[in-house]
Amino acid sequence: MKKMHVGVVGCGFTGQQHLKAAARLDCVDVVAIADIDREKAGDAAEQFKVHKVCPNADVLLRDPKVEAVVLAVPTAGRSQLAIDALNAGKHVLLEKPAAMNAGEIRAMMAVRGELVCACCSARYRLTEVARVATEFVAGGALGKLRLLRCRAAHGVGGPPKGPPPRWRVSRAINGGGILVNWGTYDLDFLLGVTGWSFAAKEVLARIWRIAPHLSSHVAPDSDAESHFAALIQCEGGRAITLERGEFLAAANEDAWEIIGSHGSLRIDMTRVDGKWSVTHHWAAPEKGLVSRVLWAATETEATRDEESLANGPLEDFIASIQERHPPRTGLEQALIITQITDAIYASARCGRAAPVRAPLGEPATVPTAGAGRGPELTCDLVSSRP
Ligand SMILES: NC(=O)c1ccc[n+]([C@@H]2O[C@H](COP(=O)([O-])OP(=O)(O)OC[C@H]3O[C@@H](n4cnc5c(N)ncnc54)[C@H](O)[C@@H]3O)[C@@H](O)[C@H]2O)c1
Repeated sequence: MKKMHVGVVGCGFTGQQHLKAAARLDCVDVVAIADIDREKAGDAAEQFKVHKVCPNADVLLRDPKVEAVVLAVPTAGRSQLAIDALNAGKHVLLEKPAAMNAGEIRAMMAVRGELVCACCSARYRLTEVARVATEFVAGGALGKLRLLRCRAAHGVGGPPKGPPPRWRVSRAINGGGILVNWGTYDLDFLLGVTGWSFAAKEVLARIWRIAPHLSSHVAPDSDAESHFAALIQCEGGRAITLERGEFLAAANEDAWEIIGSHGSLRIDMTRVDGKWSVTHHWAAPEKGLVSRVLWAATETEATRDEESLANGPLEDFIASIQERHPPRTGLEQALIITQITDAIYASARCGRAAPVRAPLGEPATVPTAGAGRGPELTCDLVSSRP
C-alpha cells in the first residue's frame, strides 16, 4: 500500500515519539515537520531525516503533499490547529487530552466531514492486555456489569532530575492536571474495553493540588490537580469510580477493574517492570471466591506492549485512513470522555454533583485559548460556587 504522507506539528517529547514510531512503520513517510521552536524542529529534522522544516503549523498545513497531520503540541490551541487542518483537507491525529473541553470536540466534529480525526487516548487500548480484557468481557462471564474502577496512586519519588514541564499541571495550557494527563487514558480503557456501554449521568468529585512541601515536583506556576477522586453514576444502576494521583504521600497501586454480578476482571498495571497481568475472579457458591490469572505478560509480550504504546496511535490512525474504518478512539468517543472530565472539574469546583451531558443546543464554538473549560464546565450549580 502507498505510504501516507504525514506532517508532524510539535517536535518535543511526544512529537519525537511519533517520529520514532513513523521510522518503524512501513505505512508512513514524514514529509514535513513544524515547531514554534525552530531549533527543536531543526534537530528533529536532522535526527529523523525529514527534508522539510516549516516555520509554523500554518505553512505545514498549506503543503499539498501533506495528507495527514500529527498534532503533538500542548492542548491549548490544538483544537484550532485541528480545525485548520481539517478545513485544509488533512486527516488529524490528536495527542491526548483530545481538547480543552467538550465544546472544542463538538467544533472539530462540525468540520470533520469524511476525514479521520483520531485521538491518542486510545494508546492503552491498542495493547495485547486490552485485547485480552475486551474479548473476555464480551464473552459475558462477568454477568451483569455494574462497576468500572481505576485506582492508580503513585507515591512521590526522590527530588526531580530536571525542571518539570510548564504545561503538565497547568489549567491554561493543558486544561487540567493528572485527570486530563492520565484520567483520559483510564476512561478510554475502561469505557472502551466494555464496549462504550457505560453511559455516565452525574459526577461527584474532588481534586487536590500537590502538597506545598512537595511542590518542587511541578513547575512553579502549576495550578491544576495532581490527585482526583470521582464517583460517576451511570444509566441502569451502573457506576464508575476513578482515583488517580501522583507525588502522593500514599503507597503505590495501579489497577483497573471491571466488576459484574458473577465475576470481575482486574488488570494490574505494574509499570515498574513493564509487566501487566489480567486476573479473573468469580464467585462459586460452593467454594467462595476463585481467582485465575488469565494473562500475564512474558518478557516478549511486555516488550510488544511497550511497542504498541509507542507505535499504536499512529499505526491505528494510518490504518483507519487507508482501510476506511473508524479509528480506535475518534471524536465521538473523545466527546464521551471529555464530557466526563468536564463534569469532574465542574463537580470539584461546585462542591456538589454535576451532570455529565451538556445542555442541548449548545453552540459548537472553540473557546478562546486559555479560557480553560468552556460551557460544559458550568454545571447548573456554578452560581453556588464560592
Ligand atoms: N510527555 C509525555 O510523557 C506525553 C506522553 C503522551 C502524550 N503527551 C501529550 O503530548 C502533548 C505534548 O506534550 P510533550 O510532552 O510533547 O510537550 P513538549 O513541551 O515536550 O513538546 C511540545 C512541543 O510543541 C511545540 N509547540 C507548541 N505550540 C506549537 C504550535 N502552535 N505550533 C508548533 N509547535 C508548537 C513546542 O515548542 C514544543 O516543542 C501534550 O498534550 C501531552 O499531554 C505527552
